Amino acid sequence: MPIDPILDPSVLAKELSGYHLINGKLVAPKNGKTFDVLNPATGKVIGQAADGDADDVAIAVAVAKAGQKDWAERPARERGKLLAECGRILMSHSEELGRLVALESGKALRTESRVEASVLADMFVFFGGLASELKGETVPFNPNMMTLTTREAVGVVGAIIPWNVPMMLMAIKVAPALVAGNAVVVKSAEDTPLAVLRVCQIMQEVLPAGVFNILSGFGPSCGGPLVEHKDVKKVSFTGSVETGRTVYRAAAEKLIPVTLELGGKSPMIVMGDADLDKAIAGAIGGMRFTRQGQSCTAASRMLVHESLHDEFVKRLIDKVNTLKIGDPLDEETDIGTIINRKQFDKVCGYIEVGEKEGATKNELSALPTDSALSDGLFVRPVIFTNVDPNARIAREEIFGPVACVFKFKTFEEALELANDSDFGLAATVWTTDLKTALVATKRLEAGFVQVNQNLVVQPNLSYGGIKLSGLGKEASLESMLEHFTYKKTIILNME
Ligand code: NAI
Ligand code: MG
Repeated sequence: MPIDPILDPSVLAKELSGYHLINGKLVAPKNGKTFDVLNPATGKVIGQAADGDADDVAIAVAVAKAGQKDWAERPARERGKLLAECGRILMSHSEELGRLVALESGKALRTESRVEASVLADMFVFFGGLASELKGETVPFNPNMMTLTTREAVGVVGAIIPWNVPMMLMAIKVAPALVAGNAVVVKSAEDTPLAVLRVCQIMQEVLPAGVFNILSGFGPSCGGPLVEHKDVKKVSFTGSVETGRTVYRAAAEKLIPVTLELGGKSPMIVMGDADLDKAIAGAIGGMRFTRQGQSCTAASRMLVHESLHDEFVKRLIDKVNTLKIGDPLDEETDIGTIINRKQFDKVCGYIEVGEKEGATKNELSALPTDSALSDGLFVRPVIFTNVDPNARIAREEIFGPVACVFKFKTFEEALELANDSDFGLAATVWTTDLKTALVATKRLEAGFVQVNQNLVVQPNLSYGGIKLSGLGKEASLESMLEHFTYKKTIILNME
């Protein structure tokens, strides 16, 4: 039955409170336990999340395993059509989804949450269209033997997702996994269990029961058992390096494949010949100031040629000062809140560390004055200048609205600084010289390199990092084939 959009996110949050979604239905956890979901802009409780554990994991995985068989046997294009249909229905719910994710995550509706809701729908439309690309090959092995390969679904996929872009980062796993004929069990992030649950509920209108299930709960008590479950044949994880390692270890015990999308400390090189207007706009967008910097690809290391450095810093400061911090649901707001108290303390801690390390702190924009927001987790954007490249703020992922600007003299020095990082997710270079652009794209150690722009993840482009930024790629046809299917080789002897 079609579900009507509910535009008041407080009402919707209450409706979804306390549930997993298993076998097509909202269900309470076996243990009866729930935990509070907060609005980080006010500190107020907006609803409850199911506190799932291994018992719920067992039920959800069993349901997924049973549902996967029929699902995989359907014609690929039929699965694709259903997924594309999900995309269309999700688009008609994008306003309610944007509002709900703004309420639970603190991301501003106009600049971030509404955008996420529409990108989410597009992800399902894109992967739905790829169904007939699940093709194999014929191989000229022996004239008397017909030799071919097929792409088979892996079975039940476990997906563990974070809170920064919860719906989109779920879609980037669920859409290719389902199109390829798998069933999925998602474990949502503790802080953002509601919008993703709504997405799953909306999709039940179209999908057969049991192929897409979602659990909420804490990492060790619900995510852990999901990774460890014997019938989960593939895990796709987005989150911290530390948890990524834990997931990888558990997967190693079972010898199953994993995709890990972890952190970053992405460099942005601004050459002396760069178009400064573009570079400033790119710095604002790339640093994700409107997402409070809570992005794995945040351009948090800005390396600027000495000839442009002071002008760049001045203009960046002026621009960030025009961004309005406020209630995420207010259309005027550009910048919302940090996700939770722990991350708030972490980000504020790094700002103190930066000052102690001797960097110059430029604290920008203004905190909201509305008394209803006095307990909100708002952090003013900070641009640090005069940063030692070996300082902690220069090397560690802060995951907040904190950028470091460095000055360089030569291109070589810029490349060395850029690559001197434990991470390798994204990088950009800003220049009007073709040779500089080409050399930089070749030498930058990152999975996603852009020149004179800083786009976010695109459905048809492979996305993923090297070094501590992770393993494997997401999005694109190629990653669907690589990560959500296995290749079977078949030989028919015709003699
Ligand atoms: P986290 O890595 O602990 O959480 C991500 C997901 O993993 C959540 O769903 C969580 O419940 C789950 N999880 C936690 N422990 C688990 C375990 N033992 N087994 C299975 N699943 C488990 O990240 P957290 O604590 O939310 O944020 C900490 C830092 O992680 C941030 O400051 C940021 O640096 C990074 N991060 C990176 C993200 C990215 O997009 N790459 C997204 C979110 C956080
Ligand atoms: Mg954690």
